[in-house]
Amino acid sequence: MIVHSANFITSAPALASCPDSEWPEIAFAGRSNVGKSSLINCLLNRKGLVRTSSTPGRTQLLNYFAINEALHFVDLPGYGFARAPRSVREKWQPMVHGYLQGRESLRAVIWLLDVRRNPSPEDLEFLDWLEESEIPTIPVVTKVDKVSKNELARNLAKIASVTGLPKELLTPVSVQTRQGHSEVWERISMALDPDA
Ligand code: GTP
Ligand code: MG
Repeated sequence: MIVHSANFITSAPALASCPDSEWPEIAFAGRSNVGKSSLINCLLNRKGLVRTSSTPGRTQLLNYFAINEALHFVDLPGYGFARAPRSVREKWQPMVHGYLQGRESLRAVIWLLDVRRNPSPEDLEFLDWLEESEIPTIPVVTKVDKVSKNELARNLAKIASVTGLPKELLTPVSVQTRQGHSEVWERISMALDPDA
């Protein structure tokens, strides 16, 4: 995919405030700090388009980006941020579940896991919920520049066994080295046009 244009559109607090549009959508989900906003910047080749932070809980709304006037990326707030104020944590589920289940133009969710962490109970709960809701899911393993080749192979095997996902479906990515960038775009293209 050649990215000709990428722009921030809006931050929506709920499904009802999402843009009135028929462009297909790809959403990015995963625990707080896993690298969702960084991956979007990397896929779009725009360093500062999406705000990233080493402090978990940076993204608290459904953040919309327009790509090539034809596609939306939606950066979702992360889960699993224990120190977030209760008011923020309580809003997460209705906001994110309501959006994912109700948004007709949604084509797939890119679900991110940190290569250095064992999938948490919240990760597994979210994956179960995606499967039950029959939402096409593209699993991505982030920050792979932080581990050695051996560790990467070991951790991918562990993640596959804990999640039950086939190892070949787990795409390793790094925004530092851009590893996995074109594979993720390929998966996105397949989700946008399943018959191609
Ligand atoms: P929330 O908005 O809080 O849900 O977090 P997020 O998932 O959007 O994470 P974000 O993209 O803000 O990244 C969190 C931290 O991880 C930042 O300090 C990033 O620089 C770092 N990071 C993200 N991806 C990578 C990667 O591939 N490699 C390395 N080394 N660091 C990364
Ligand atoms: Mg973020």
